[in-house]
Amino acid sequence: MILLDGKKTSADIKEEIALEVTDLKNRGIKTPHLAAIIVGNDGASITYVNAKVKACERVGFESTLIRLPEDTKEEDLLNEIAILNVDNDIDGFIVQLPLPEHINEQKVLMAIDPDKDVDGFHPTNVGKMALNLPTFISATPFGILELLDRYNVVTSGKHVVVLGRSHIVGSPMSILLSQKRKTGNATVTMCHSRTKNLKEITLQADIIIAAIGIPEFLKADMVKDNVTVIDVGITRLADSGKKSGFRLVGDVAFDEIAKKSEFITPVPGGVGPMTIAMLLKNTLLACQRNR
Ligand code: GUN
Repeated sequence: MILLDGKKTSADIKEEIALEVTDLKNRGIKTPHLAAIIVGNDGASITYVNAKVKACERVGFESTLIRLPEDTKEEDLLNEIAILNVDNDIDGFIVQLPLPEHINEQKVLMAIDPDKDVDGFHPTNVGKMALNLPTFISATPFGILELLDRYNVVTSGKHVVVLGRSHIVGSPMSILLSQKRKTGNATVTMCHSRTKNLKEITLQADIIIAAIGIPEFLKADMVKDNVTVIDVGITRLADSGKKSGFRLVGDVAFDEIAKKSEFITPVPGGVGPMTIAMLLKNTLLACQRNR
């Protein structure tokens, strides 16, 4: 069994990006600048967005964090987006999700200039991704592709089973892995809550991407020997034995499946750490494209 180490891989990527930033600085070229808007006081979102800003600082990017109150009007948020869209100093920006209920998420995402949409959530960028055109691939699918690539996991001709059809993970993963690309050319089956005979399907999989948000859903008797498993799930389960009061659990029963697998991602330390690294990569890409 080989562990797909997202913590180490993301550190490697950040180091590579930092070297590129040093090179830009040495050549007197403006360094990438990422902005993030966060609306409200959701603890997990604040922690996550702070981690993104800190990661920018570590690689030498400029960063701007815009904090807006919970009761911000949709119109005011759209105004902030319009300002960032035309600010030449900002290469890319994100609006942290989820948004308060009174704000229409789709309207907000569609207001972002696709050339600055480093989250890759704008329909223009989702469409380009589906057509295999140059775009920003959103952080989680991009991170999974990068992890598979860096560990030389062969996907060509393999049967990939994707569990979950979310817009953020399941759907783009199934599209990307079936495309004619280096980490692609797979035969993909996408499964969801209405899928019948799921175990029959997962038992045929060479690679399983689990992104359904049900802790330890995938069990050892559902996979064949030498399977590769990518666990996108991350659920907090109460655990009085932990200082934090919880432990993080993926969608995969790790201990029992690890014994049968060729490659597997841990939780935490697998897909999760890759996402911020890929956001930075998209910001660097935006900077290079827009200049
Ligand atoms: N909330 C959770 N993950 C993400 C992400 O990747 N981008 C944004 N904008 N919000 C999120």
